[in-house]
Amino acid sequence: MDFSSLFLQFPWLPAFLLLLIPIIYLIFPSKDKTKQYNFPPSPPKLPIIGNLHQLGKLPNQSLWKFSHKYGPVMLFQLGRVPTLVVSSPDMAREVLRTHDLDCCTRPLSRGQKKISYDFLDLAFSPYGEYWREMRKMCVMELFTSKRVQSYWYVREAEVGHLIENIKRDAPTPVEMNDTMFTLTNNVICRIAFGTSHRGNQFEHGELKQVIDDAMTLLSGFSASDFFSPRFGWVIDLVTGLHWRLNRCYKSFDTFFEKVIKEHLDSSRPTPETEDIIDVMLGLAKERSTVVKLTKQHMKAILVDIFLGAVDTSSVTMVWVMAELMRNPRVMKKVQDEIRSIIGRKPSVPEIEIDKFTYFRLVVKETLRLHPPASLLIPHETIRQCKIGGYDVLGKTRVLVNAWAIGRDPKMWDDPDEFRPERFEGKDIDFKGQNFEYLPFGSGRRMCPGINMGLTSVMFVCSNLLYCFDWKLPNGMKPEELNMEEEFGLNLRKKVPLHLVPIKYNWENFKG
Ligand code: HEM
Repeated sequence: MDFSSLFLQFPWLPAFLLLLIPIIYLIFPSKDKTKQYNFPPSPPKLPIIGNLHQLGKLPNQSLWKFSHKYGPVMLFQLGRVPTLVVSSPDMAREVLRTHDLDCCTRPLSRGQKKISYDFLDLAFSPYGEYWREMRKMCVMELFTSKRVQSYWYVREAEVGHLIENIKRDAPTPVEMNDTMFTLTNNVICRIAFGTSHRGNQFEHGELKQVIDDAMTLLSGFSASDFFSPRFGWVIDLVTGLHWRLNRCYKSFDTFFEKVIKEHLDSSRPTPETEDIIDVMLGLAKERSTVVKLTKQHMKAILVDIFLGAVDTSSVTMVWVMAELMRNPRVMKKVQDEIRSIIGRKPSVPEIEIDKFTYFRLVVKETLRLHPPASLLIPHETIRQCKIGGYDVLGKTRVLVNAWAIGRDPKMWDDPDEFRPERFEGKDIDFKGQNFEYLPFGSGRRMCPGINMGLTSVMFVCSNLLYCFDWKLPNGMKPEELNMEEEFGLNLRKKVPLHLVPIKYNWENFKG
């Protein structure tokens, strides 16, 4: 019997079947697994791309705005990647402390795989035995405060050089973004390789260009990561990412190969202070280490140092100077502090920077408003867990919006105001114990380079503020200063900061 004759015989059958379907659904609820879970709220999404189109040019700001509507725990669908976004101190505590172990691996992104020598580094390596060993080595051997201090003479020499140049050319305006980048880069080169490689050309352009490119490519928002891994390479090819990544990788690799070879040359004189490559070569000879350090491991760690140290520190220095230019009251107070402590000297010796208590608050306040890693480095869940009472499945990407958390009005009075005094007498520090303040993250993946980063920022900026008074060019008023951000692996100041240096006249000192 065919269906038409069946329906002719029983004309009520189509209506009955139509009614039956919802009844079956009611009696036997859908086996759709997602219904078993209590997922966090999500904004509506489009097929295939999900919420990708809603991130905009400044994902830190777009996600912050969404959190006003959807709350401090949200679930986004970025292409095929479920992404949890947390935007309040309480929820950050759940991710970075209560569920730190569940949330502390990294997503395996194509770009990061290439640039980190197949995840042999620390920053992009997945959580596990290998990461733990590398982290231990970095924290106990490479980035200890003793080692950071031992490089004081490098910082003093490079900053002295810069101060001389600015004095010589004053009052020619200084372009801060490039100047700070070059300075930090020279310092890190000397710490890592023993020589400054000033003006050194990579195979395909200058080091700055390569770091710049790498920072953009690794921002964690490249299209190929959000679609099928099988077709990711096609997207990379079309967008040019594949080619740019290869170029970055080759540039780093050729350069690192050359400097490691120089260090292995037996005719090289024994250095007074070991640089990072010397330390790693020493560790490579040790039998007791679990991970046998090869050249590839060393190169991967060097990539981390360049990407982790140069841009974060120099971006912070620019924001410190920009905020001080916008706030002449704070500028005067901080300059008075530094000059009265140091007195009349050619420059600020590094050993004195711990005495600048008010300036430390200025740096704190700058990092509250401008944490360079605004969304930290993306984390990923290792297994299913509950955040804020919501279910979060394994392999979900996790973004902690440190930028939004630093502006949470429940935690900070007048959050948009630059007021370093807000930290006075408060026990809020950089160490990741205060979840309303996370410029270096918290928990297992917290930044291991805090000491080095803060020392550089405090030392460089205190010298600039001590040796010069600064003016905005062309009679620009402080409130006219453009403070727009540019998103990448680090949040930079979009419009370069130009400042006019005026050599400080000690006759004016009333300290
Ligand atoms: C002002 C300077 C700096 C800031 C604001 C900063 C901030 C951060 C942040 C937010 C993270 C990610 C934490 C997370 O994912 O939960 C991080 C990780 C990291 N930072 Fe820094 N950082 C700075 C300087 C440095 C320096 C100087 C170095 C190296 C010498 C460094 C090396 C690293 C490394 C290797 C990681 C990855 C750690 C891991 O995944 O286990 N950073 N940093």
